[in-house]
Amino acid sequence: MGEEIELISPPSKEDISHLKPGDKVLLSGTLYTARDKAHKRMIEDLPDLPFPLQGQIIYYTGPTPPRPGFPIGSCGPTTSSRLDIYTPKLLSLGLLGTIGKGPRSLPVIESIRRYSGIYFVTTGGVGALLAKKVKSSELIAYEELGCEAIFRLEVEDFPVWVGIDCRGNSMISKKEMELERTLVIIKPDAVAARLIGEVIKRFEERDLEVIALKMVNLTKEEWGRFYQVHQDKPFYYDFIEFMSSGPSIVMVLQGEGVIMEARRLIGETDPKLARLGTIRGDYATDTRHNIVHGSDSRTTAEAEISFFFKENELWSH
Ligand code: TYD
Ligand code: MG
Repeated sequence: MGEEIELISPPSKEDISHLKPGDKVLLSGTLYTARDKAHKRMIEDLPDLPFPLQGQIIYYTGPTPPRPGFPIGSCGPTTSSRLDIYTPKLLSLGLLGTIGKGPRSLPVIESIRRYSGIYFVTTGGVGALLAKKVKSSELIAYEELGCEAIFRLEVEDFPVWVGIDCRGNSMISKKEMELERTLVIIKPDAVAARLIGEVIKRFEERDLEVIALKMVNLTKEEWGRFYQVHQDKPFYYDFIEFMSSGPSIVMVLQGEGVIMEARRLIGETDPKLARLGTIRGDYATDTRHNIVHGSDSRTTAEAEISFFFKENELWSH
């Protein structure tokens, strides 16, 4: 594991630009704590933020109350994947990095790369030891959440390892990034606008390979099943009605890191936020009529592909 790299926290983008997955770093300076409940509150309270996120680092921990004479109790990391749904938004608002335990979702990795952020991991089970690296602790927001409130910690030589670097390279495993499959749907608005060829071209020219493709025309009930994760959302009924308003193309793309890459080419869900040059940025009219769908993780990709295709319908070389 090589030498330890000492960094002032929060570090600058320049400071973290040369870090690589697996590097050991000792952080000295400021960290903010937040777990599930504080994240939920932060997102609900937007655009107000409990502290200026710009360039800061959030440590996923809920410190136990301090023993007399100490600034903090035990403060080990919590499992980061539970915070995955909040992280891309916070990174887009200027958060530089996070510290936690375990792997992150592909959308988080994609956002870390997009915003040149960083994800550190630290060791679980040694919360008491980590607490010794904390010099002071100050309550910042959401006092009513108890140990899940947001605290500002001043730390010295706090040990972390680079889990995901600013280029989106992950310590978790390079292998997981290889030969993936994703489901893409060219939605009824795109089919009606004669954009089938244009959408396929966007993927093919980036070397993503089509390994299955067909036109489908599903009922509202069938689209309802496909999109059932959204069944409690206010947009659900209007959206599945739109999806059943005409034929769609469903296809499977294969390639290295294809899930992330396809979503990058597709662009943000809301076309007002999608960059020009992305498919939605160039063609979508509004969030409901946004031209194309792409799976958002390995797990959903597998389920979505098998919704439409049998394994022997996928071309394999
Ligand atoms: P979502 O999974 O949030 O977006 P994405 O397609 O980028 O993964 O939502 C699924 C679809 O639901 C989205 O492509 C269009 C529709 N939708 C609406 O009609 N209105 C909305 O406000 C949202 C968020 C989504
Ligand atoms: Mg989605």
